[in-house]
Amino acid sequence: MTQEDLFKKIVSHCKEYGFIFQSSELYDGLSAVYDYGQNGVELKNNIKEYWWKAMVQLNEEVVGLDSAIFMHPTIWKASGHVDAFNDPLIDNKDSKKRYRADVLIEDHIEKFNDKINKEVEKARKRFGDAFNEEQFRSTNQRVLDYQAKMDAVKARFVKALEDNDLDGIRQIIIDEGIVCPISGTKNWTEVRQFNLMFDTKLGSVAEGANTIYLRPETAQGIFVNYLNVQKTGRMKIPFGIAQIGKAFRNEIVARQFIFRMREFEQMEMQYFVKPGTELEWFEKWREKRLKWHKALGMGDNKYRWHKHDKLAHYANAAYDIEFDFPFGFKEIEGIHSRTNFDLSQHQQFSGKKIQYFDNEANEAYTPYVVETSIGLDRMFLSIISSAYCEEQVGDETRVVLRIPAPLAPVKVAVLPLVKKDGLPELAEKIMNRLKLNLNCQYEEKDSIGKRYRRQDAIGTPFCITVDHQSAEDGTVTLRHRDTMEQERVSIDDIERIVTEKCDIKNLLRQLM
Ligand code: GAP
Repeated sequence: MTQEDLFKKIVSHCKEYGFIFQSSELYDGLSAVYDYGQNGVELKNNIKEYWWKAMVQLNEEVVGLDSAIFMHPTIWKASGHVDAFNDPLIDNKDSKKRYRADVLIEDHIEKFNDKINKEVEKARKRFGDAFNEEQFRSTNQRVLDYQAKMDAVKARFVKALEDNDLDGIRQIIIDEGIVCPISGTKNWTEVRQFNLMFDTKLGSVAEGANTIYLRPETAQGIFVNYLNVQKTGRMKIPFGIAQIGKAFRNEIVARQFIFRMREFEQMEMQYFVKPGTELEWFEKWREKRLKWHKALGMGDNKYRWHKHDKLAHYANAAYDIEFDFPFGFKEIEGIHSRTNFDLSQHQQFSGKKIQYFDNEANEAYTPYVVETSIGLDRMFLSIISSAYCEEQVGDETRVVLRIPAPLAPVKVAVLPLVKKDGLPELAEKIMNRLKLNLNCQYEEKDSIGKRYRRQDAIGTPFCITVDHQSAEDGTVTLRHRDTMEQERVSIDDIERIVTEKCDIKNLLRQLM
């Protein structure tokens, strides 16, 4: 199965099993906006819980916040979003399709990497155990040529971005012969800047009504509450403020399902530090965040770092954690050292002093900020796509979502073997006991095999089957999702066994 086919299957699986629906589907849908169904919302809530507990509960110096989506419009002027939150766009005149010019070039650059990797793999097969990858990469002429071409395009691209040179960006597309994936032609328009913020009106749409924006990031809600939280919480630097909430961007090229949406959710944390110590904290947070991802056990090889070649004007260091999605390695989380840019801008635009008085050093300063920013929907997609698995069981294919047990939407399914002989009543009794602590599902329709398959498809780690023996000796069959193994356990032990495996503490413990 190609990665493209796999991705298509994941998308339709998400719909078929109540994880994700196209928004407004009844009215033919709204592009790049999605709704989370009955299983999706559970998984999403569990991811949020894992993030919140890891950030706020495990770090005593990090506290939470829930700021409003609507904010004073000057905030977006101060943050630079009104003037500079743009994407460079280009249209293909033949297909009439619109693209992000920077993404076209980035994808083109990535192709050089693919070519290099292919050469490496070919050589690995040829030389077998004797293969020395490092030596091959540094001496093979073809690899060196691809590398040199890639470096040259990259350098031109970074310079054009830094100079905000839209003609220069277009020229790279022309010179590199980048074609429209739909029409296959190089018939490109000029490159234009497009602001990504949605706006609306506050109050009645009448004279004097104010234009306000739907926040394109949650971070600004944290910056403008810095003083409130620091003072009321008597916070000492270094400290952090964490928030989970919706963000909105008028993405022009919205694609790859929930990877790039117009309405999405972010989990962000701003860590306020003493100027001069920011790079040290930046490294600490990089390490912590990667550990958080890896604790899920989806495979360490699924993650890689991407260092930003071009830094935003306010940043002095920035890395992305990239995840190996079915469509390749793409950003899932950004870790940025944002200096004191945002607080200084809000100080200037609001006319109010935003400073911290450091009693030990007996000095006042505007704190520097290290930010960790992860897209909840991208995190969701990373889990679903690495969990999706098709395997042959006898002469049928079983689809199973190997979601880490603490994040699974349903932890245990309670299944009476037949709909008679008092088994449903006993099953319901067990269910009522378990549901105080665990998200459970009760199912009595269809054969037990079909019910197991349905639970596999939504990633339920445990199924318990109540049969005639249960009424006699107080035991049930406990079936494990991943191995399909079944064991006989006492009804009194179920809660402990399931809780032990599904407890979010299993993940959190790995972060200590
Ligand atoms: N406050 C910093 C900030 O917003 P960003 O790199 O633009 O930085 C952070 O966004 C994260 O938000 C990304 O790593 C990504 O996971 C998520 N994200 C950004 N745009 C998105 C979109 N259109 N759809 C889904 N997730 C998005």
